[in-house]
Amino acid sequence: MKIGFDQNIYLLGFMGSGKSTMGPLLAKKLKMAFFDTDECVENKSGKSIAQIFLEEGEFSFREQERLCIDMVSHLHQFVVAIGGGAVMFADNWLNIKNSGLTVYLKCPFHAIWDRIKESKTRPLLSTNNSQQQFTKMKELLTKRLPFYERADLIFQCQEGESAIETTNRLARQLEDFI
Ligand code: S3P
Repeated sequence: MKIGFDQNIYLLGFMGSGKSTMGPLLAKKLKMAFFDTDECVENKSGKSIAQIFLEEGEFSFREQERLCIDMVSHLHQFVVAIGGGAVMFADNWLNIKNSGLTVYLKCPFHAIWDRIKESKTRPLLSTNNSQQQFTKMKELLTKRLPFYERADLIFQCQEGESAIETTNRLARQLEDFI
């Protein structure tokens, strides 16, 4: 399938909402290329995200993330998985908005929690205290919600659907939308 859209499609949403899983599937379906901002940061720095947070701090990570977003915003026909915190920064948002269509993958809180509670790769939520982790995630999500909801398309995740089914449903909505 080809939808004849020559800009980028940006997948936004909280950690664990399926951006990096659905992104490559959607790209394949739409015959577009795939770009993941976290992967870009890791490839350019030669470090994992967790390592960057630990050794250089969040500020340095955000700067590297900003450069990757700036880079992909100059490219065309990429499906882009955007790290969950990036849309909070005005310059990232401008680059994204000016270069493509934004899609918020809106998943229920408990579904996200189930996916990320055991994750060891998400430094913003890493603590051994699961109650603290839960509270932190709630706070972050509440703060970010208005930023995610600025997206052109709000795509509702549905429980019990496979990644392929969800991707196909998103592709159909995009066809109607573009
Ligand atoms: C972050 C989300 C992560 C990664 C980093 C910070 C965030 O990406 O960029 O750990 O601030 O929400 P995913 O959303 O792909 O997990």
